[in-house]
Amino acid sequence: MLQRPRRNRKSEVIREMVKETHLTASNLILPLIIVEGDNKKVEVASMPGVYRLSIDNLLREVESCLNLGLKAFDLFPNIDEALKDKYATISYHEECLYLRAIRAIKNRFPEACVVTDVAMDPYSSDGHDGVVENGEILNDETLEVLGKMALAHARSGADIIAPSDMMDGRVGYIRNILDSNGFTNVSIMSYCAKYASAFYGPFRDALDSAPKFGDKKTYQMNPANQREALIEATLDEQEGADFLMVKPALGYLDVIKLLNDNTHLPIAAYNVSGEYAMVKAAVQNGWLDERRTITEVLTSIRRAGATAILSYHAKEVLANKWI
Ligand code: PBG
Repeated sequence: MLQRPRRNRKSEVIREMVKETHLTASNLILPLIIVEGDNKKVEVASMPGVYRLSIDNLLREVESCLNLGLKAFDLFPNIDEALKDKYATISYHEECLYLRAIRAIKNRFPEACVVTDVAMDPYSSDGHDGVVENGEILNDETLEVLGKMALAHARSGADIIAPSDMMDGRVGYIRNILDSNGFTNVSIMSYCAKYASAFYGPFRDALDSAPKFGDKKTYQMNPANQREALIEATLDEQEGADFLMVKPALGYLDVIKLLNDNTHLPIAAYNVSGEYAMVKAAVQNGWLDERRTITEVLTSIRRAGATAILSYHAKEVLANKWI
């Protein structure tokens, strides 16, 4: 036998030498969930190890992550139901919990990279990512709200704005508003291929943001589609996105690879709440090895072509020195 591929697997040193995919702290973005109050840290039932944090505890968490070399964070708010309305007006109010959180992090830790989520659902009394009228999600009316929200994030100090709503034309709309207000250096990480997925369930529990009626299938993509992701990617690239995101990640590795092969922008992938919950539930039952499963999940997402991975595992893999 001339070729014996096992020779390159015979020792740890050689295995490391021929390793094709590397995973480091700089690839990771940690999603964090914020709640109103003082010294609050409330575990999300369906996401063991993930907490809703009040701003004081959020700052402690960011500090401990920075000490581990984890420097990028994506923020999500749990908003009091009484503050929600049809047009998500609270989202761009100066004293909104979310905007206070951005300011608090950037004041205290200017070196932290803050990614902000632009979409109406956490603030909307309808629980949808857009303005609802007669049961329909209105695209262009939603853009106006998203533009105000994105501008408020930029003014509060956001480094990267991540629209997760899937309305048509929103990347260009937001880019234009940012630029005309002097925020030419604020980046856009577009949720480019975001699928109407069952795997967002635990996240909607965490935010209390589930849609009050219907589903999100008229704006999020059909899980059956791959080629359609290229349409979204082309538009987002033309409209001025700096990153293209695929979401969820694990069931959509083919889409990550497709976008990586067909576009020039860095690809981000969101290892979503349901993917996290599945792993944690199996680990709690003793059915999967935690360290090996989590590092394999993250490595697979990198191998498919994602440069940046948003993952609720981001801190634990560093704190436990798994990578
Ligand atoms: C909403 C949003 C969702 C997530 C991020 N932003 C849920 C949804 O679209 O319903 C999901 C994140 C996760 O599941 O971890 N704009």
